[in-house]
Amino acid sequence: MGQPSKKFKMRNKIVAGNWKMNTTPAEGVELAIALKALMTEVPSDVELVIAPPFTHLDAVSKAIAGSAIALSSQDCAAETAGAYTGEIAASMITPFGAKYVILGHSERREYYGETSATLNNKMAQVYANGLIPIYCIGEKLDERESGKHFDIVKAQIEEVVYNLTPEQFDAVVIAYEPVWAIGTGKTASADQAQEIHAYIREVLAAKFGDKAAKTPILYGGSCKPSNAQEIFSKADVDGGLIGGAALVAADFVGIAKSF
Ligand code: 13P
Repeated sequence: MGQPSKKFKMRNKIVAGNWKMNTTPAEGVELAIALKALMTEVPSDVELVIAPPFTHLDAVSKAIAGSAIALSSQDCAAETAGAYTGEIAASMITPFGAKYVILGHSERREYYGETSATLNNKMAQVYANGLIPIYCIGEKLDERESGKHFDIVKAQIEEVVYNLTPEQFDAVVIAYEPVWAIGTGKTASADQAQEIHAYIREVLAAKFGDKAAKTPILYGGSCKPSNAQEIFSKADVDGGLIGGAALVAADFVGIAKSF
């Protein structure tokens, strides 16, 4: 496999905003409208993605219509349909023109007990409905401190991504989010990000070969306009999955301008 290099633009650049459980529907629409107005500032080779709460998908999809902003959900059900109170099927997301589904966010793994088994079923639902997964991986603080971070992300990939077909793998987006950097104001250093992104790409390549050179690997965890440039400058960092800073239109767009 050739040395991955940004010069050749082998990979899509993506900046995705995970709104988590924030904003009222009206505030969500307001944010979407503000982003749409700022799209002229976003470089044309950077894809801007927003992931509002499910309840906002309809209104937000209308607000961004006619713009290049892509829509994502933050999760989907592991089942197709049926007696699963409170769940949202992938097929309920597509009618809003959504392109992506965030899967396996550390908050879902931690607070809602999502396991690799669940995530394999969710992956199947995402692909069956023509959506693209943004699959999140990342270690906790104690795992980083005890030097287990490489093994953790490897297992998170092997247990889920390795089950994809080569065709499915062509579409997948990976988001590396060290749990200790999420919402803490503490980011991985650009060198730490590059080190583990390169490792993640190696693990992907061990199964999928050269295809891994095309997989976008996003960094997430306290990413903001002031630190995005340094992190995005690294060869194996193809963008970001943004939490807090995605709730402020100017900050989110500022990050998208950081390549
Ligand atoms: P913060 O940018 O708020 O740290 O959140 C990152 C994240 O979890 C995005 O999914």
